[in-house]
Amino acid sequence: KQDPRIEGIAASIRVVPDFPKKGIMFQDITTLLLDPKTFKNTVDLFVERYLGKDISVVAGIEARGFIFGPPIALAIGAKFIPLRKPRKLPGEVISEKYVLEYGTDCLEMHVGAVQPGDHALVVDDLIATGGTLCAAMNLLERAGAEVVECACVIELPELKGREKLNGKPLYILVESR
Ligand code: PRP
Repeated sequence: KQDPRIEGIAASIRVVPDFPKKGIMFQDITTLLLDPKTFKNTVDLFVERYLGKDISVVAGIEARGFIFGPPIALAIGAKFIPLRKPRKLPGEVISEKYVLEYGTDCLEMHVGAVQPGDHALVVDDLIATGGTLCAAMNLLERAGAEVVECACVIELPELKGREKLNGKPLYILVESR
């Protein structure tokens, strides 16, 4: 039986047709954030899954992984690492290019943010084609971290992004069509 909190989370996500481009059904989590109880339920579901699981790093993907990642990191006692769009991080970085549902982009991570032996959880709001999570995992693994799992609030299963994760486990709360 599905956790009763999931239904409230699904209902709080606003779907905006044709944003940012025609044909895209944008999954807007800003409406979820407006209800503190639902936002807390979202974070709690992740924390309940990962607390005590030996995760030393939570890596959040710009921009909406910066909303969900830090409260999870604090609650499980892990460090938080921002994975950013190009030319935002001031220190030495490593970069990974990826293809997006709409366009191409690149993620960067500070050198020295993770050490070999770190156990990482990658957090974002949504998986569509999976390209973004794949780039995030590559960055962490290139730096010697082991990626334990990826966690997103929303999956768009029709885009089969899960298949791009090379068998790495993906945990999601809500499926959307
Ligand atoms: C969205 C979403 C994920 C990514 C998923 O970000 O927040 O990060 O797309 O797509 P994928 O699975 O096809 O790679 P977006 O590109 O809108 O960037 P933003 O968060 O900086 O606005």
